[in-house]
Amino acid sequence: MSISRRGFLSSAIAASVATGLTSPDLTAQDKAKENPANPFGAGKRPIIISANNGVNYLDDAFAFLKNGGDTLDAALRVVKGPEDDPNDDSVGLGGLPNEEGVVELDACCMHGPTRRAGSVGGVRNIKNVSLVSKAVMEHTGHVMLVGEGAERFAVAVGFPRENLLTERSRKIWLLWKENNSTDDWWGPGISDPRWKPPALPGSPQAELWNERIQSLEARAADLGIEPEFREAAIRRVLSPPSGTIHCSALNDKGEISGCTTTSGLAFKLPGRCGDSPIVGAGCYTDQDVGSAGATGSGEENIKVAGAHTIIENMRRGMSPLEAGIDALHRIVRNYNNDMSKLQFIDMTYYILRKDGAYAGVSLWQGYSEKPHKIAVHDGTRRSEATVFLFKGPSHEFPPFPVPVPEELKKDSVYVK
Ligand code: GLY
Repeated sequence: MSISRRGFLSSAIAASVATGLTSPDLTAQDKAKENPANPFGAGKRPIIISANNGVNYLDDAFAFLKNGGDTLDAALRVVKGPEDDPNDDSVGLGGLPNEEGVVELDACCMHGPTRRAGSVGGVRNIKNVSLVSKAVMEHTGHVMLVGEGAERFAVAVGFPRENLLTERSRKIWLLWKENNSTDDWWGPGISDPRWKPPALPGSPQAELWNERIQSLEARAADLGIEPEFREAAIRRVLSPPSGTIHCSALNDKGEISGCTTTSGLAFKLPGRCGDSPIVGAGCYTDQDVGSAGATGSGEENIKVAGAHTIIENMRRGMSPLEAGIDALHRIVRNYNNDMSKLQFIDMTYYILRKDGAYAGVSLWQGYSEKPHKIAVHDGTRRSEATVFLFKGPSHEFPPFPVPVPEELKKDSVYVK
């Protein structure tokens, strides 16, 4: 299999340019309200919502909830699935490691009925950090433990230490390490005024990228990365993902809880905590209002306290959909509508109101054939496309020399 620059362009970049990144899908918000299959306004309970990588675990958790199981335990059943799955490289066992090749996990949870929370950050060697966050909530007087202390606490309460770095994730890390020795997470980030967007095509850099992808492909083969996974591995090297899973659950009594767990941004600096363990950013539950969580760019979500913002928006009367869209607008505002930066950021919110109304919203649509989705179970298990602000996917290859379309440079209408 040969992975050409053209191939990458057609699957990853041209799609976003061709579908037009120019306008927020404002009408989708209205359509969603009218669409009875996806009402985003009418409530039904019990109900569980999650990031789409939890969809296969919803049946079991929903049956547990229907049989009187606790709402937080139901949500934890969902996220434990991907944590245990060595092939899900966004969370738990097999998560992509930090820049030193060490897997560091983050998680938090909130239990609505008792109004309690627990959280852990930067935990090594313990797979089910979502359950460790619950243990912090139940067995300590603290809310958050990090690093070595969190690991020692987990072992003390009975979690086994194990190697979380699978062979596949180790090889992807090695591929990243060998090809990005000068392109890592050190130095000014995207929010720094000194940050520069990628060079335009036609520049000498564009040809260098062609060579770079070919050399990554050859090196991936040398490392023994399976041919069918090679393109995905190179994507992860060129655009480190920040995959995560969030889940919120509501029972028929109106009790509600939520949790979020992740291996965080791939190849991050050791010690980096994203939004997932931050109560109020990666997850927030208020028994009086509802529960919300996030996947996507952790740094951006922390700056808008996304989950808490959404809950407070709903408390003031916004629908789940309006509340989520407002949080996305705050991210757009933080970059003054600058699409040369926003095209490299993505964020999805999963929102559940106490009456069972829910919404999934994302900054970008995703690929048209693979849009961002929210998984739902309210008696029927399904995945639904999120309502999005911008058409197309966010760019997967920040340094790839893709032009910013002229339309994107105009003043936009995204910010209220
Ligand atoms: N949203 C996960 C992270 O940024 O760590």
